[in-house]
Amino acid sequence: MDKYVLCITGASGVIYGYRALKELNRLSTVEVIVSETGWTVIEEELGKQPKDLMEEFPKALFYDNRDMTAPVSSGSVLKDYKGVLVMPCSMSSLASIANGINDNLIHRVCEVALKERVKTVLLIREMPFSKIHIKNMLKATEAGAIVSPASPAFYHKPRTVEDIVDFVVGKVFDLLQIPHNLYNKWKGGSKT
Ligand SMILES: Cc1cc2nc3c(=O)[nH]c(=O)nc-3n(C[C@H](O)[C@H](O)[C@H](O)COP(=O)(O)O)c2cc1C
Repeated sequence: MDKYVLCITGASGVIYGYRALKELNRLSTVEVIVSETGWTVIEEELGKQPKDLMEEFPKALFYDNRDMTAPVSSGSVLKDYKGVLVMPCSMSSLASIANGINDNLIHRVCEVALKERVKTVLLIREMPFSKIHIKNMLKATEAGAIVSPASPAFYHKPRTVEDIVDFVVGKVFDLLQIPHNLYNKWKGGSKT
């Protein structure tokens, strides 16, 4: 079974991580790390506490973001994973990842994933971007991460917030070749 690490940091849009968790939990083995502010935003935007998520996904393994001894902090373990997803990724976490600063488990896992060439997707969310943000996106890209903005499209005619969220999560899954039915792929324009 494919293994993934899903990281949720304290950017707006924690619903992307939550939706990804729901899907990954069905398909594979998923290990989850939520940053301190990630939990705050989960409470703010989803009205959920850590225990709610842990009860909802008993199969998923939740790590404490301060636990630098977790197995996934080691290259010998993480090299066998199919991907690391940071959904959403704050500008602060982007900065740490881009500059190789690992002061928590999420940043360490990303550093290790990049050195072991494990696919790492950073679903960034901020608006607008400063020059520092853009430089960090370039640095992270040059280090091998896939920097993907949480920017939904509308050509698939979403009707609900869930449709919009599913499109973004589906695009991230496409990057990792994770099978899904989260959105319908573009089949060409209407010929009138
Ligand atoms: C409700 C809320 C929404 C936030 N939204 C964003 C955001 O969209 N993008 C961002 O870069 N930071 C955002 N922040 C700020 C980050 O949470 C803050 O920079 C934090 O230090 C990130 O740490 P982390 O990456 O370890 O979670 C938000 C904070 C709060 C409380």
